[in-house]
Amino acid sequence: MDKFVIEGGHRLTGKVSVSGSKNALLALMPAVLLAPGTYTIHNSPNLRDVWTFSRLLGSIGVHCELNNNELFFDSSNITSYEAPYEHVKKMRASIYVLGPLVARYGKAKISLPGGCAFGPRPVDLHLKGMEKLGAKITLDAGYINAEAERLHGAKFNFDISSVGATVNMLLAASLAKGTSLLTNSATEPEVTALARMLVKMGAKIDGIGTTTLEIEGVDELHPVDETNIPDRIEAATFLIAAAMTQGKITMTNVNPYHLTNVVAKLEEVGCTVDVTGETIELEMSGPPSPSHITTAPYPGFPTDTQAQWTALMLLANGTSRTTDTIYTTRFGYVPELQRMGANIEIVDNTAIVYGGNKLQGTTVMSSDLRASASLILAALVAEGKTDVLRVYHLDRGYERLEHRLSALGANIKRVHTEEY
Ligand code: UD1
Repeated sequence: MDKFVIEGGHRLTGKVSVSGSKNALLALMPAVLLAPGTYTIHNSPNLRDVWTFSRLLGSIGVHCELNNNELFFDSSNITSYEAPYEHVKKMRASIYVLGPLVARYGKAKISLPGGCAFGPRPVDLHLKGMEKLGAKITLDAGYINAEAERLHGAKFNFDISSVGATVNMLLAASLAKGTSLLTNSATEPEVTALARMLVKMGAKIDGIGTTTLEIEGVDELHPVDETNIPDRIEAATFLIAAAMTQGKITMTNVNPYHLTNVVAKLEEVGCTVDVTGETIELEMSGPPSPSHITTAPYPGFPTDTQAQWTALMLLANGTSRTTDTIYTTRFGYVPELQRMGANIEIVDNTAIVYGGNKLQGTTVMSSDLRASASLILAALVAEGKTDVLRVYHLDRGYERLEHRLSALGANIKRVHTEEY
């Protein structure tokens, strides 16, 4: 097991290039099940979640290889229609194979995902949607069984905006017979990236980037090469890190449009931000002003950035509020920040941050991916040394983070430890 040892108080300066998006890649990968053949996805981050998904696809018969951020697939010989518990328990996005397997092979058996570190995460919308497309769904001994002769087009409204359910429905409806109309669809850039790849594969999708998607199913799709989009959550994390250390960074290979909301908030709290093409420059001097954020589906403030934002608000002289409307209990990082001296109160789905206290280095423990990012950010500005345990959570979603932070001037080391 690895931990990070971080000495606080170093200003971040310099250039950093943003990696390919983890969440977008996880949506693109199952598309290779829709048409047999070879595919390459460029700008693929080398991350634990990508390895987990590759192993899952491997168990279904897809050969996957990741070299120098290029992910190669051969899906010519599918041998199984199952996503077993051992994969799904590691990563909920495993349920993305449901749509393509049932659409192309008429059957799928997927382990039901359980809860996760930030509360219950149901998959009812995925299942209701598949049923609307004509799949017969049964639940048996912790598994979802889906069967269909051929899926048919249907109208489906997502009661709640859901990235995962929209991904599954797009994948399935692309090969269904007839037209599907999906309303209240998620518009996150990761969903749009999948829709674009599907169109390249021969799918007919209208309304990409909007909440209403019309998909005219086709009989066959074909393999493609695709380039993954930049990771907006990683980018937001670096921007917040620079703001916290009163640094000055230039971020390249980013899509600023995907970060409009986060950048506006950073400017509101006092950062100077310059956007040119695929580059964002951020400079900050002095502490941020207090501010309130409320997470919302895209283009709102991302739930995946609220933990990092709360860390930034610890430095503001005054009271700030972080409200999460998507995952209402996603505050597992708060007790750990409190151990560093943070003054935060949780009321319902809001973290009330009384900022301005000095943070002190100590040992803290990550509970999920974005929680670990929040602890690392706090450690970058804490007095003394912080040990952040269980960085395997962080490794799911940030590529070589310690190297890239070091290159910007942080004092951070990965250390192997027996501590758990
Ligand atoms: C994706 C992201 C995750 C991000 C989240 C919200 C991936 C791999 N993960 O997760 O990082 O935090 O979007 O932006 O891309 N819901 C239901 N029923 C369902 C599905 C979802 O009630 O069948 C609820 C969820 O509990 C949550 C809300 O809908 O309250 C949004 O969840 P969703 O967008 O589906 O999140 P994920 O796709 O799991």
